Amino acid sequence: MERYSYGMVGLGVMGRNLLYNIADNGFSIAGFDLDQEKVKELEEGAASGMKVRGTDTLEDFVSALEVPRKIILMVPAGKPVDAVLGNITPLLTEGDIVIDAGNSYFEDTNRRVADLASKKLHFMGMGVSGGEKGARTGPSIMPGGDPEAFKLLKPMLEAIAAKVDNEACTAYMGKGSAGNYVKMVHNGIEYAIMQLISEAYDLLKRGAGLNNDQLYQVFKEWNSGEMNSFLIEITRDIFTQKDTFTDNYLVDQILDKAGAKGTGKWTSEQAMEIGVSIPTIDIAVTSRILSAYKEERVQASEIYSEKEITKPEDTEQFIKEVGDALFLSTLISYAQGLSLLVKASEEYGFEIPLKDVVKIWRGGCIIRSVLLEKFYSAYTQDPNLSNILLDKEISELVKSKIKALRKTAGYAVANGISSLGIQTALGYFDAYTTKSLPVNLIQAQRDYFGAHTYQRIDREGVFHTSWQSSNN
Ligand code: 6PG
Repeated sequence: MERYSYGMVGLGVMGRNLLYNIADNGFSIAGFDLDQEKVKELEEGAASGMKVRGTDTLEDFVSALEVPRKIILMVPAGKPVDAVLGNITPLLTEGDIVIDAGNSYFEDTNRRVADLASKKLHFMGMGVSGGEKGARTGPSIMPGGDPEAFKLLKPMLEAIAAKVDNEACTAYMGKGSAGNYVKMVHNGIEYAIMQLISEAYDLLKRGAGLNNDQLYQVFKEWNSGEMNSFLIEITRDIFTQKDTFTDNYLVDQILDKAGAKGTGKWTSEQAMEIGVSIPTIDIAVTSRILSAYKEERVQASEIYSEKEITKPEDTEQFIKEVGDALFLSTLISYAQGLSLLVKASEEYGFEIPLKDVVKIWRGGCIIRSVLLEKFYSAYTQDPNLSNILLDKEISELVKSKIKALRKTAGYAVANGISSLGIQTALGYFDAYTTKSLPVNLIQAQRDYFGAHTYQRIDREGVFHTSWQSSNN
C-alpha cells in the first residue's frame, strides 16, 4: 500500500489550501475530514501530478501515513482540537508528530504537549498566517515546540512558506507553545494596524473630505513607498470595489460593527498577565468591542451631536502628515508587540529568536511590510534589543515622523474624530521616552492610604511615611 509523507485533518478552505500547497511542492499527503463531501472534493480539486488522497475514516487515514506520522491539524481552536486528539491519539504509535496549525491558545498547547508526551507522541503548535490565499501560495509559518520534531518538518515547511529574497518565511520560534504565542502576538499587532488604518481613513474621509477614488489614490501612493505592506495594499483595493446591490462602493454599505475571534483579546490579556504595556493593541481590541454598540452609539450621537469638523487648510500637507502618523503609530504597535515577545520569552522560557520572528513576518503574513526589513537589521545587530525604539536607525526614523504624529493626533482631538489608536501610540511613545514619570505621586498616594511603601531616588530601601492630613 502506498504511504503518504504527511496527513491533514480538517479540509476547510485553510486546510485544503495548505494541503494543496504541500502537494504542489512534491510531498505526498493524505487528508481527512468528518465531512465526507470535503474529502470527495479534495481529490477532485487536486491538480494532476499531486500525490493526494482523501480518506473516509480516521483509521484509513492513520494507516495511510509513513511512520513516524506527521499529521497537521487545521481545525477550529478549542474543543475541536481536543476532539480530534481524543479520536486520533489511540491510533498513533510512539514518535508520531501532531502539528496544530490553527490559532490555538498557547496554554492549551502546553496542556496538549504534556498529554501527548505521556503517550510518547510529539505535539507542536504552529502559527500559520496569510489567510486562504497565503495558505495556498505561501504563508508565513511559525512553528514551535520539540526541536527534534521540528527538524523532520523543516524541509517541507521551507518549501511551502512564502519567500523573501529567496529565504523562506518560516523558522523555529522556540520551545513549548512559542509558535502559538508568536502567532497570537502577530494577530494582536494585526488588530492594532487595522485600527490605525481605519482611523487614517476616517481622518482623510471626514477631515479632508476625500472620496473613495481619492482614498484609493492616497493608499496607492502610500503602498508604493516606505509604507508598503499587505494591509495598506488591500485597503487600497477595497476603495475600488463596487457594491452588487446598489450603485455605491461596497465599503460604504458595510455596517460599522467589527467582529473578532479572540486572538487580539488573548494578546491583551497576556500582556496584562505578564506586565507588558501594549496600549495600542489593547485599544484596538476594545475599539472593536465599542463598535458593536451601534444602537447606543447612534443614541449618544443624537444627545451630544457630532462636533463640526474644520477642514485642514492644506489638504496635500494633511495627507502627508496622516501618512507619517500612520507609519509611526504602526511602527510603535510593532514595538509593543515585540516587547511582549521579549518578556514572554523570559517568563515562559520560550527562547524566541526575535530576529527570526521579524524575518519570517516580512512575507506571507497579514502584517508583512517593508518596515520589517529595518527591524530585521536592528535585531541582526542586537538580537537582545528589549524594545525596537531603542535601535539607532529606528530612532532616526521615529524622530523624522513624530511631529506629524503630534499634529495628526491634535487635529483629531480638536475635531472630535475618535482616534484611540493614534492617541495611544503617541501616548505610549511619550511615556516610554520620559525619564521621570509622574508616578512618584501615585506611589505617595498608595503609601498615604494603604501603607504600600515606596522607594526613593536618593537612597536604597523601602520606605513608609505617616502622611500629614491638612484637614485637622
Ligand atoms: C492570519 C489572520 C488569521 C485570521 C484572524 C482574524 O494571520 O492569517 O490573522 O489568523 O484572519 O484570526 O482574526 P479576527 O477574526 O479576530 O479579526
